Amino acid sequence: MDKNYYITTPIYYPSAKPHMGHAYSSIIADFFARFKRIDGFKVHFLTGTDEHGLKIQRAAEKKNIDPLKFCDEISKTFRNLSTILNLSNTDFIRTTEERHKKSVQHLWKELEKNDDIYLSKYSGWYSVSDEAFYNDDEITDKDKIKISISSGSKVEWIEEESYFFRLSKWQNKLLNYYENNKDFISPKSRKNEVISFVKSGLKDLSISRRTFSWGIKVPGNSEHVIYVWLDALTNYISGLNYPNIDDELYKNFWPASVHLIGKDILRFHAVYWPAFLMAAKIPLPTKVYGHGWILSGDEKMSKSKGNILDPLDIIKTYGVDQLRYYLIKEVSFGNDGNISKNKLEDCINSDLANNYGNLCQRVTAFAEKNCSSTIPKNIKFNDNDIKILNRFTDNLENLRNEIDKQNINYYIDFIVKLLFEANKYFNDQEPWKKKDDTQRLNTIVYTSLEIIRKISFMLYPIIPHSINKALNIFNLNENDIDFSSIGIHDYLKQGDPINKIGILFKKIDRNND
Ligand code: ME8
Ligand code: MG
Repeated sequence: MDKNYYITTPIYYPSAKPHMGHAYSSIIADFFARFKRIDGFKVHFLTGTDEHGLKIQRAAEKKNIDPLKFCDEISKTFRNLSTILNLSNTDFIRTTEERHKKSVQHLWKELEKNDDIYLSKYSGWYSVSDEAFYNDDEITDKDKIKISISSGSKVEWIEEESYFFRLSKWQNKLLNYYENNKDFISPKSRKNEVISFVKSGLKDLSISRRTFSWGIKVPGNSEHVIYVWLDALTNYISGLNYPNIDDELYKNFWPASVHLIGKDILRFHAVYWPAFLMAAKIPLPTKVYGHGWILSGDEKMSKSKGNILDPLDIIKTYGVDQLRYYLIKEVSFGNDGNISKNKLEDCINSDLANNYGNLCQRVTAFAEKNCSSTIPKNIKFNDNDIKILNRFTDNLENLRNEIDKQNINYYIDFIVKLLFEANKYFNDQEPWKKKDDTQRLNTIVYTSLEIIRKISFMLYPIIPHSINKALNIFNLNENDIDFSSIGIHDYLKQGDPINKIGILFKKIDRNND
């Protein structure tokens, strides 16, 4: 089995500072990266910023700053957010870096070599906000201005000399690829829109601009800059040192396991990107997953709509793991979701504080008093113990499979269910009434501690910082986590010391209920 895993987020536009939507994609990608790592995979996890193009040039002009300086500043806020969100990314790429430029220009030359590029003239609609070309049937009038139907952003008419990519030539090969690789476009619900777009007929794609200069120059014609999407998509391989295909990074991690993106940019990833790659004779990524949107009211949260929520504010009030837990649990992954403080507080109070935090607290406090702060010795599992312990063992393979289908909700729902079962087990077994039967008391405590360990391991990809703290109970830390060991019932060494820990999650005081 292939034990390498390469996951990417979109590289974000540093035209304004990051918002909750960006945080969402990054947190989800981090969940997968961390899960795969504890399941024994070598993981490469790439994120970064997409810094060229007219959108950025105009944003910089508006502030009267040189575009690179402008990007330096805002890119830093994205990088800082990665730290604050506790992302385990292994690289952060900026498209203004030399390594990236070289890679893009090489890819261009490959496309040219294979006769997939020609010079002509573009005339049509362009949205600077989306950095996208639109056909006539994809735009509409709103308050006397032309907008894109899909994104709602303003389009402008452009006419200029441009290089074209022979996208039309790849239409059938793309359709075949979708047909033969059923999971390439995920979730399933998004596949049809892509397929019908391709079937409706692909026109050749304009891949250079000459009326502005903020971009990577076309090799051999410095009057043109490369279309920002061709530039940006290449980050997924420039980050692996393409075109140096003997490089360890490229050898180990290309093709990518998952490009995680929002559904807004599915066309670029599921149509243009694979066509570019086929044309350059580069293998295609295994999967492109287009998740839903974080909404504000019933609109997409976006800086151009001005309805954004700053993740930093939420983190300051509630904490980063609280936000991570909430976004992973409460947004049905793949679909759109709303952010609600009420639900976030529910998650914190019932799941994190009551269900998980309290279980840790109760069991360790009991063990401290009754088992002299050690993992109890002299134990003998009965059917009740084995039954709950086996719930983990019996589901390991299942959980792995669901994760590979990006079924995050299955994973977290399983954990929540097990938390209820664990609390119920401890209540029902009533160890406090077993002071005359040391073996039974010890066994209940041992079993409960094993369950806490297992659940903590499982929660790690979701709330890594808190789990690192919780594992101190067992004198363990995140480097000790191994997903396979969740199936083992005697991982904890009898007689080893255990530690009391402070409160993991503070309950939110709610004066309105
Ligand atoms: O499109 N809900 O950058 P971008 C959920 N530079 N996710 C959201 C979101 C929301 N409301 N808003 C943004 C670009 N996102 C290009 C990408 S990739 C080669 C180039 C997330 O700054 C989501 O992942 O507009 C979306 O696809 C991405 O941010 C768009 O970020
Ligand atoms: Mg956008």
